[in-house]
Amino acid sequence: MQGVTNYIESNKQRFLDELFELLRIPSVSANPDFKDDVFEAAAFIKAKLEEAGADAVEVCPTDGYPIVYGHKIIDPKLPTILVYGHYDVQPADPYELWDSPPFEPVIKNGKIYARGACDDKGQMYMHVKAFELMMRTNQLPCNVKFMIEGEEEVGSSNLATFVKNNKKRLSADVVLISDTSMIANDTPSIDVGLRGLSYVEVEVTGPNRDLHSGVYGGAVANPINILAKMIASMHDENNHITIPGFYDKVLELTNAERVALNLAPFDIEEFKSDLQIADVWGEKGYNTIERTGIRPTLDVNGIWGGYTGEGSKTVLPSKAYAKISMRLVPNQSSDEITSLFKKHFESIAPAGIKVVVKPHHGGEPVVTPTDSPAYLAAAKAMETTFGKSPIPTRGGGSIPIVALFEKELGLKSVLMGFGLDSDALHSPNESYGVFNYYKGIETIPYFFHYFNEAH
Ligand code: BES
Ligand code: MN
Ligand code: MN
Repeated sequence: MQGVTNYIESNKQRFLDELFELLRIPSVSANPDFKDDVFEAAAFIKAKLEEAGADAVEVCPTDGYPIVYGHKIIDPKLPTILVYGHYDVQPADPYELWDSPPFEPVIKNGKIYARGACDDKGQMYMHVKAFELMMRTNQLPCNVKFMIEGEEEVGSSNLATFVKNNKKRLSADVVLISDTSMIANDTPSIDVGLRGLSYVEVEVTGPNRDLHSGVYGGAVANPINILAKMIASMHDENNHITIPGFYDKVLELTNAERVALNLAPFDIEEFKSDLQIADVWGEKGYNTIERTGIRPTLDVNGIWGGYTGEGSKTVLPSKAYAKISMRLVPNQSSDEITSLFKKHFESIAPAGIKVVVKPHHGGEPVVTPTDSPAYLAAAKAMETTFGKSPIPTRGGGSIPIVALFEKELGLKSVLMGFGLDSDALHSPNESYGVFNYYKGIETIPYFFHYFNEAH
């Protein structure tokens, strides 16, 4: 590869300006108030792919937000890389916790602060710029297809349909994704696993109306008290999940795999001080790396009901609600876990309380190989640009579509992410290092180069 760093050096400011333009579009897929903005982000990606030299660029409509597709086929005999990313972002709420407005990107201490800076606009846009670089310097070594979606943060259900209906158009040799994190800027790593997800909302109903908490209190089950108790009962004293059958399919690691997983550097003191917590918490018998990497979880994401306004109102509520996520590991199945949860939750409801369990989107866990030509190309690319071979790690988050790529297209993915866990994804003050942005743009062309070499 020639002139990679030179090209980046001479286009540095523009690369940043363009990303800032994209970050200013509040493409929040979860909130219909931002509908026009989500479409605008898709149009932006289309224009930039075309400018960079992609052919057949199209904003493909779906029942939800569109998928931006484009490709450059230079020779059908060459390997093809399918680049996946997302242009939608999580809601920025609560806005008051941001030090600068979420859709007005700024650079502070070498980091870009904005919603989507890392997840996934910054990381996805590196691929558009790396492609531009390879086109302009006449050294695109593989065919490339781009598929950039706008519903990753809400479960990718329309992308699933698109993938099933466009198998031929999406045929490739590997999927390349930058939507995960690495250990540190001087410790590159590649995720070789992601957790799956089962997500439910529960509604717990007691009396038919809100009641005076003095007149009725003590004589009628309070749905909030009951919900709190039901939730608390779903972990035992060792923090194991108590849903019958929950662990039945969990694939335990071999001793060798467990040793390998723990080779990744991890500083527990740094972990605690970053989060300002006095201690970690979790399932007995597993350490922090294992708890996020290879073990399933159950967590309440939100809980509400009753009176939460100013002052006090003495009321015994009629209803209480919670949103609950379960992170899954191989070989758990999202549908199976959702139904085990439902059955259990219904069974522990006391008489006099009605419960409704509403399943939301889910996704299957994945593991990716560390000995494939694609993984080795990614490792070599990172070694070239970081001067260090990346460490294989397990990511705790989920990208549900990755399992579907495998099932429907028969394609493995390479999760070559450049973010950091400290980038505050989904939180206020999300950021992405300027270093990481340029490093990604620099590394991606080497992946193309080494992947071509391996074929
Ligand atoms: N990019 C993340 C997933 C991620 C982040 C994986 C860091 C590994 C390390 C993705 O955008 C995401 O947030 N996924 C959701 C999935 C969901 C909305 C279906 C998640 O993990 O909560
Ligand atoms: Mn993401
Ligand atoms: Mn996300």
